[in-house]
Amino acid sequence: MKIKVRRPDDWHLHLRDGAILQAVAPFSAAVFARAIIMPNLVPPITTMAAALAYRRRILAALPPNATFQPLMTCYLTDDLSPDELRLGAERGVFVAAKLYPAGATTNSARGVSDVRKIWPVLEMMERIGLPLLVHGEVVDEDVDIFDREAVFIERELTPLLADFPALRVVLEHVSTQTAVEFVLAQDDRVAATITPHHLLLTRNDLLAGGVHPHLYCLPIVKGAKDRRALRTAATSGSPRFFLGSDSAPHPVRRKESARGRAGIFNSPVIMPWLAQAFEQEQALPNLEAFSSLHGPRFYGLPINEDFIQLERKEPDFPACVEIPGGNDCLRIFSPPEKLHWRVAAA
Ligand code: NCD
Ligand code: ZN
Repeated sequence: MKIKVRRPDDWHLHLRDGAILQAVAPFSAAVFARAIIMPNLVPPITTMAAALAYRRRILAALPPNATFQPLMTCYLTDDLSPDELRLGAERGVFVAAKLYPAGATTNSARGVSDVRKIWPVLEMMERIGLPLLVHGEVVDEDVDIFDREAVFIERELTPLLADFPALRVVLEHVSTQTAVEFVLAQDDRVAATITPHHLLLTRNDLLAGGVHPHLYCLPIVKGAKDRRALRTAATSGSPRFFLGSDSAPHPVRRKESARGRAGIFNSPVIMPWLAQAFEQEQALPNLEAFSSLHGPRFYGLPINEDFIQLERKEPDFPACVEIPGGNDCLRIFSPPEKLHWRVAAA
């Protein structure tokens, strides 16, 4: 069986830099037309100049003739100047800005310590319609890691949306039923991305029978009830939910360690796993809306004109992708179940 899907976009992608960028960029470019590029490099992308230079490095890492378009984002810090972001947005360099609560996840140390510190930036974003992309987890040590998204929604996001009634917000990589219900209760200025791994995994996959570091990411995967809500949201046809892979490669040595890094590298297998999840939900006809229509609609961009084909056939891909010159590799997302889909050759 083969299905035709309008070429998808990835609305949340970590491409990293240097050798890892060289290793991973071709996988996104092979399937996706565009991607929202996460700015959490070290140092983070906080200026137009840094974003333009990073964009050039991404384009240089693509195979010849690739048409993949990186959509750049600005990393919000306590002291970011509203003018830098506004100019960057007006010149088409920044399509959004990313809010990492300081300390919430990988390379978030320079993130925002208190949203009150970025009040003028948020006012400006609301005024010009620049989307705010949110890592929605509190950093409070006293809050259980499985509750950090729900507590963020209650303590931070709810007041933020009230204070900025026209600010456009994407709650990134939602992982709970609470987040799904929250997004649906807002008007259409609020949307959410969902990752393939949050549709496939529960915390049993992560923790039962031994710790599986390659299934560890933030927000941490939750229980079956939450996965059900995410599957229902993604397959429902609601335009408020769209694909953001959160592909976040880390070298195997950093994942398999006493303090394994958070992040799942899924970019070579995103569409096959989505097809499998949508098939299990008997919702294959809604896959295209999730992967290729709702994102452009939220961002006010045209939909892609060409198509890819997905084929119900055992795929053939390696377990790991070498990092050039790095003497290490990146393990490709591999949940416990067997994959039955692949992207058909063009
Ligand atoms: C991401 C990373 O490694 O950059 N990690 C992750 O677990 N998702 C950061 C993020 O999006 O939280
Ligand atoms: Zn991410």
